Amino acid sequence: MTADGTQLRFQARTDGPRSGWFKKLMLLGREYYYDATRFVTHSGALSPRHLATLRALVTMDTHRVEKGLAVPHPKPWFGKLIVRRVLHNASLYARLDGDANVCRAAVDAVEDYLDRNSELGAPEPEWAAQIRRAVTGLHEQLQPAGLLGGTKTVSRETIHKAGRLDSMDFFTSRYSIRDFAPEPVPQERIEAAVAAAQHTPSVCNRQSWSVHVFPRGPQAGAVLACQNGNTGFGHTASHILLITTDLRTFVYPGERNQGWVDGGMFAMSLIHAFHAQGIGTCCLNWSVDSRADRRLRTVAEIPAHENVIMMLAVGQLPEELRVATSWRPEPGHVIRPGRIRQVTNQDGAQ
Ligand SMILES: Cc1cc2nc3c(=O)[nH]c(=O)nc-3n(C[C@H](O)[C@H](O)[C@H](O)COP(=O)(O)O)c2cc1C
Repeated sequence: MTADGTQLRFQARTDGPRSGWFKKLMLLGREYYYDATRFVTHSGALSPRHLATLRALVTMDTHRVEKGLAVPHPKPWFGKLIVRRVLHNASLYARLDGDANVCRAAVDAVEDYLDRNSELGAPEPEWAAQIRRAVTGLHEQLQPAGLLGGTKTVSRETIHKAGRLDSMDFFTSRYSIRDFAPEPVPQERIEAAVAAAQHTPSVCNRQSWSVHVFPRGPQAGAVLACQNGNTGFGHTASHILLITTDLRTFVYPGERNQGWVDGGMFAMSLIHAFHAQGIGTCCLNWSVDSRADRRLRTVAEIPAHENVIMMLAVGQLPEELRVATSWRPEPGHVIRPGRIRQVTNQDGAQ
């Protein structure tokens, strides 16, 4: 294929299996079946039957309320169904002994919703009284724990001050490290990086990620033995992190790939959070077939509902080291003017 999309006839060499296309197609089918079965079994797409899915639903609706309040001109008393549903699901989740903070965030968001709508002065619908009663009921069940939901006001100055980098060198000085120093990375450095990475955006704030930490030695060695890209340096890493996402937090067929997106974004934040602390990392791919995925699950305790996104080798930097140049093309090669085929209005009509 040329840059303008013309198909060329040639056979490039790859290190993939050298079987015929029919066998390759069958193998591909087996892999899609594996992924689809895992999504159907563990996500809430068929029916929301896990407690973790209920938690995700409460978080999603809490965030929908927050989002609706964060726009320039919130629609008065928007989202009656969402507000009712989040209170219903939050009280169900509280009764089932779920994470109280998830319920508190929901109550805080709905309280903010009631306050903001009262401030806007639009006439109160009759169902608002029912909402107020449900909020009071939930308040009685939950101990207060500071503000966890709703909206808050921040200034541009605060964001600019806290977010300023002296230069873009922060990004250009990150390399994949394949030669780590022997000193271990202290646990608190790992915790600080994870805490920072937890601020990664995620779909409706569901934060489906987990990080499994394997220290250097037999533990890291066991997971590294399942991975194909760490030859010659994996053993020098202080820790191997395994980044996963929880399929139970996804509830629609359209979210079948969302875990890969949210997990990948989280991983990138984690890498930058280590870089900000002067600690080196190297991504280790988990681009494997179902057999390798199953094998890793027999070696390491990974809950069945978690998908492995990738591994991350983490370690201290030696005084001097070699890194790959990893050439990048000019940004103009990446940036393209958006081209419209057909203009549609907001409802999708042409
Ligand atoms: C998802 C992912 C998986 C990767 N897997 C490996 C790997 O298995 N082994 C390795 O040495 N590098 C791996 N890398 C690192 C890439 O080779 C590297 O990021 C790329 O060449 C750019 O180089 P840089 O990170 O030094 O800028 C991976 C990168 C990503 C994003």
